[in-house]
Amino acid sequence: MNAPPRVLISAGPTHEPIDAVRYLGNRSSGRMGLSLADAAVAAGCPTTLLLGPTTRTPIDHSMLRVERFQSCADLERLLNDAWPDHELLFMAAAVADYRPVETCEGGKLRRRSGRRSLELEPTPDLLAGLAGCSRDDQLRIGWALEPRDELMSSARAKLDRKSLDAIIANPLETLESDRIEATLLGADGTTRTPDPPSVSKHEFAVWLLEQVLEMHAEARS
Ligand code: CTP
Repeated sequence: MNAPPRVLISAGPTHEPIDAVRYLGNRSSGRMGLSLADAAVAAGCPTTLLLGPTTRTPIDHSMLRVERFQSCADLERLLNDAWPDHELLFMAAAVADYRPVETCEGGKLRRRSGRRSLELEPTPDLLAGLAGCSRDDQLRIGWALEPRDELMSSARAKLDRKSLDAIIANPLETLESDRIEATLLGADGTTRTPDPPSVSKHEFAVWLLEQVLEMHAEARS
C-alpha cells in the first residue's frame, strides 16, 4: 500500500503593506483551509499549512507543520520552498490580485502631506507559476470564488489558465458564511458535488479531501 500523500495547504488572506501600519487586505477568514488541515491530519497525511494573517488558530498536532505569511511575496517564497516535498496542493488562500508599487518602508504616510494616489501593480499568479515545476505525482487544486451567474464558466477558464488538476467553483456568497455549496471541477471534465449540496465548511473539507485522495490514487495506479 502507498504511503499517504503529503498535503500542502495555503489559507487565509494576504496583507500587502502600504506603510508601517497600513495594508491592503481582504475578508478571508482562513476557515476552509484550517478545516482542510484538520481533515488531512485525521486522514493520516503529513500536512503543511501556510497560514495568512487571521485570528483563527490551527490545531496542535505532530502531523501538522504551520508557517505564517503576511504578503503575496512571503507566500510565494514559502510555496516554492515547500512544494517539492508534497504531493497535493490545496490553494485556498485569498491572494491579493494587486499590491502597492511602493511601500513607505519603516515610516507612515502623513495626512498633512495632502491628497495622494496609491499606485498598484498586479501580483504574480502563484498557482500558475507552479505549473512548470510540478511532477506527475503532484496534484494542484485551486479555488474560484465567483458570482453565481458566471460560476462554472469562470471556474473552468481559471482551471485551464492555471493548468490545474481541479478547481473548486465557489459562489461569492459563501465568503463569510458557515456553509458552502460548491462544485469540484476536474481537468478531465468531471464535476463532483457533495450530497446534499449545501454543507458546513468542515463537512466540505472532509468530502473534498476524500475526492482528491481518490483522484491522486487513480493517477498513481
Ligand atoms: N491565486 C494565486 N496567485 C494570485 C491570485 C490568486 O495563486 N496572485 C490563486 C488563489 O489562491 C486561488 C486561484 O488562484 O486558488 C484563483 O484565485 P482568483 O483570485 O479567483 O483568480 P485570479 O487568478 O486572481 O483571477 P481574477 O482576477 O480574474 O479573478
